[in-house]
Amino acid sequence: MHSSGNALHVKASKMSKIGMKMPPLVRYKFPIIGHTYSYMFDSAEFFKQCRKEYGDIFSLYVWGQVMTFVGKEHIHEVLSRDDAFDSVELFSRKILIEIGDIRYNAFATKKYITNKLELYSERMQESILSGIQRFIGECEEPTVLNNLYFLLTKLIAVPTANIFIGEEEAKSNEVITTFARFTFDNLIYIAIPPIFDLIYPGLQDYVNKLTIRLGLYNPATKNLNVLVKLIKKQIDKRLQEKQEYGDLWKRPNDMLQDIIEEKGFDLNYINYSELAEKMALFILISMINAPRACANALIDLASRTEYMQELYEEQLEVVKEADKNGILPLGAFNKMKKLDSFVKESLRLTGDVVAFPHITMKNYTFSNGFQVPRNHIVDLYYDDIYLDESLQGQNPNSFNPFRHFNKNSPAAKVSKDFLAFGGSKHACPGRFLAVNEIKFFMHNVILKYNVRTKSGKIEEKWKLGPLSFPSLRGVIFEKRKSSQ
Ligand code: HEM
Repeated sequence: MHSSGNALHVKASKMSKIGMKMPPLVRYKFPIIGHTYSYMFDSAEFFKQCRKEYGDIFSLYVWGQVMTFVGKEHIHEVLSRDDAFDSVELFSRKILIEIGDIRYNAFATKKYITNKLELYSERMQESILSGIQRFIGECEEPTVLNNLYFLLTKLIAVPTANIFIGEEEAKSNEVITTFARFTFDNLIYIAIPPIFDLIYPGLQDYVNKLTIRLGLYNPATKNLNVLVKLIKKQIDKRLQEKQEYGDLWKRPNDMLQDIIEEKGFDLNYINYSELAEKMALFILISMINAPRACANALIDLASRTEYMQELYEEQLEVVKEADKNGILPLGAFNKMKKLDSFVKESLRLTGDVVAFPHITMKNYTFSNGFQVPRNHIVDLYYDDIYLDESLQGQNPNSFNPFRHFNKNSPAAKVSKDFLAFGGSKHACPGRFLAVNEIKFFMHNVILKYNVRTKSGKIEEKWKLGPLSFPSLRGVIFEKRKSSQ
């Protein structure tokens, strides 16, 4: 933070923009840079200070433009007023594919996945078990695995591919690598600090996409081409088998099949590139957060081995309900109560100080009277909710794995004090699947291994401005001895 004590002042609060009562703009010293340095390198402290001095809504001059940040009293207003705030537009400017209609993705996720959790539960579990075997292995001897974020991206690609494009394709290495690479390539574009925006707001997204626009290079093209190839292969095969077997044809259950059976989908003229882009958006939305959450939960546990035994005992109880392959009935997930609380605590302390920017679709007046113009960025100050003692209980800064235990607030439940899955009518429709994936993964890790950080210390998150990512440092996996 560049200033000390009361040096932060309201520079332009009232009647600044076209007669609007804009939120206070925190004073800054250096033109062009504005608050960018504090935002990037000292965000937690900087926001705390701004919040203290300016209240729940304030604006900063970051990356060449004025953005507004809202705290706990108005976050839910932003989440619920989808007539005024849009989160998709900014996301779509960054990613490497065209976003069609996100409302369709929300509808399809609910209809084709969340409503069929029971149908997919066994396959999700088998996929995770095979992913653990493939990417973590036996670990008879202590084995150090680095960059768990990327490892978990590949691992979570296994159930995702299984549910999205089918059991058969999900077995191939090419598919898993394609899903994981595609997600990572997009993530890089999302996370690049927008240095060019200092010259002109929006220039960074323009520069990022220049090679794509000029048709020169798009890192996603290779992955999209693989998707086109796979989807075409699958559809050809399905159509042929359906014709061959008639009534005896066994309809594959996956999202691809649901989509091609939709009313209006013309099987005689299939635009495979369009279909691949549609699937790619599903892959991206569902993969962008789940691997990060899984890696965080795992590293949080490896950092705090003192909780291992208690969680292990709970998993030993739960696994009694499993079949001989370790597959649990859906109801057993509700019995992982301590693990659920652990996962929720890990999600709560993901570490993003501010996250989930929205853009205004019209001039808007907040309930406290402050106004923001159309096309203005409004970002959410997550820490204001997550580090608030009245909302989170004692010591909100510290990781308390059983903070949510027996409180009737499971990890997949959206509430005012828990923002991981957003809120209101657009709250993440994939959260039930996501939480079950994370829990089943952790359930099996706990049953199978002892884990600890290589450093022997709590591994802190890797920070990029106000955003956080799982530490890239090593975690040691060691197979449990049967007596343990
Ligand atoms: C830990 C994993 C995940 C996290 C943390 C997460 C988080 C989020 C958040 C914060 C939103 C925005 C909510 C809002 O606007 O209020 C969202 C939206 C969405 N998520 Fe997730 N998500 C996860 C996994 C998934 C999965 C696995 C799927 C699909 C199977 C999925 C599908 C969607 C869709 C379709 C939307 C858009 C909803 C809409 O605009 O109405 N998500 N997610």
